[in-house]
Amino acid sequence: MKRRGHIALFAAVVLLAGYLLFSALRQPAAGPWVVPPEAALRVNPEPDTESVRAAGGALYREHCLRCHGEFGRGDGPEAAQYSVRPPDLTRDERMAAQSDGELFYKISEGRRPMPGYRRRLTESQRWQLVRFLRTLARAPVPPVEPLP
Ligand code: HEC
Repeated sequence: MKRRGHIALFAAVVLLAGYLLFSALRQPAAGPWVVPPEAALRVNPEPDTESVRAAGGALYREHCLRCHGEFGRGDGPEAAQYSVRPPDLTRDERMAAQSDGELFYKISEGRRPMPGYRRRLTESQRWQLVRFLRTLARAPVPPVEPLP
């Protein structure tokens, strides 16, 4: 009887360890993507001009379209192979809730499966991308409020 108790305990421990390992590997959905306040407040140094938006668009097609899709709906040819789907960048409410600095930060840092572009693209290229992303949604760009 005592021995059976040990076996049951052992089995329980093995099951628990297996479960913990499984959930760690599975990487449960990451929480909200928090951007440091000072990064969110950064102002886009690239002017909002036709040529800057076009430059951003070219970069987008080269680096981002494969996941985010031609129009930013999150339906690029590679999107389905990842467990985290790219968000819909055409959703007005979603985009209107984020400052240029927040988008710049997310592009720079990335979050799996999205790579960070800090090293792959220059600062101005990343800001140009932000200008282009603003053309995908029709939402107005939120104003940047200075810190109190
Ligand atoms: C390998 C696929 C992939 C590539 C390539 C990729 N992304 Fe992403 N992107 C994602 C995924 C997936 C998310 C969601 C990540 C999360 O929320 O954890 C994301 C999130 C974002 C976000 C945040 C949107 C929000 O509302 O939170 C922005 C902005 C973004 N990507 C822009 C870009 C830009 C610009 C490029 C190209 C320079 C790019 N991405 C390249 C997959 C990708």
